[in-house]
Amino acid sequence: MTIILGLEGTAWNLSAALVSEEKEIYETESTYKPLYGGIHPREAAQHHASELKGVVSRALGGAEKEGVSLRNIDAVAFSQGPGMGPCLRTVATAARALSLSLKIPLIGVNHCIAHIEIGRWRCGTKDPVVLYISGANSQVLAYRTGKYRILGETLDIGIGNALDKFARYLGLSHPGGPKIEELASKGTEYVHMPYVVKGMDLSFSGLSTAAKDAINLHHHKKEDICYSFQETAFSMLTEVTERAMAHLCKDEMLLAGGVGANKRLQQMLKTMCHDREARFYVPENKYLKDNGAMIAYLGLLMLKSGNTTPIDKSVVKPNYRPDEVEVTWREEEQN
Ligand code: ATP
Ligand code: FE2
Repeated sequence: MTIILGLEGTAWNLSAALVSEEKEIYETESTYKPLYGGIHPREAAQHHASELKGVVSRALGGAEKEGVSLRNIDAVAFSQGPGMGPCLRTVATAARALSLSLKIPLIGVNHCIAHIEIGRWRCGTKDPVVLYISGANSQVLAYRTGKYRILGETLDIGIGNALDKFARYLGLSHPGGPKIEELASKGTEYVHMPYVVKGMDLSFSGLSTAAKDAINLHHHKKEDICYSFQETAFSMLTEVTERAMAHLCKDEMLLAGGVGANKRLQQMLKTMCHDREARFYVPENKYLKDNGAMIAYLGLLMLKSGNTTPIDKSVVKPNYRPDEVEVTWREEEQN
């Protein structure tokens, strides 16, 4: 049995987990909550620095109760990027120290691909079109000839950040997505919002502005604007996902990233997949949002395919794109 310790801390959530081929052995986390406004990278990094020791000790202690001791750990994996520079550096430093002191390999993983691989693992989907939507990212991807190709993406901000920004305007605390979902469920009237899809790319920044104006200048009810915001943004995401599935003739789709927890979005994607006789997959919420298990699991796949990271190549990559990664752990698809 191979066991990996994974550390995640690209943004607001610091998490450590131990994973084997069969299961998640133990996971624990500590979440940074801004007192007001959005996530401040330096404050989040300070949070991670002060919580790291506790989080890692809890993970190791929890694993011990499952019969896994320090010497059973085969490698330590960490999020090398993308993410906030100060947060990435804090976690990478801890991962390097653990790798050196335990004398086990270090594995720098791409956070976006970790979201995808944990979803494939938990859902058992083989070769899906992936809609990866989180705070900072909004991408449609699929695997082809050794890489996850980005077929479409946001041209400005991620859908999660657009939702969070609008939520802050409404005076709601971070993260705003779930609060907007709640308000949207009470909306009844659709108010026109900018629908911006260019080929398979998207834009969300105009939506936040239009939503603010609809409340500020046109005095619409906030429930109706949350509803209209969601209907518009989620239709855009569903449209580009469907286009990718049609172009690539794929009959599976996988949802990844924190925004994927939204039930209305899940419903739209499910309907789209049903209409094209495709299968829709979504993992449990704990594997949609940032989590240490996904980092450990991708670390496991990488270790088993001989893909580790020497210390001198372990510098963090705040803008690390998924299509930069050579996928060493997947077989070529026969099509
Ligand atoms: P990444 O580094 O991949 O961009 P992240 O740091 O943004 O990840 P995630 O946990 O993947 O972290 O996603 C967080 C985002 O998900 C936040 O913007 C939050 O508002 C949003 N979110 C969470 N739950 C919901 C929901 N039910 N509806 C809409 N958005 C949601
Ligand atoms: Fe994430």
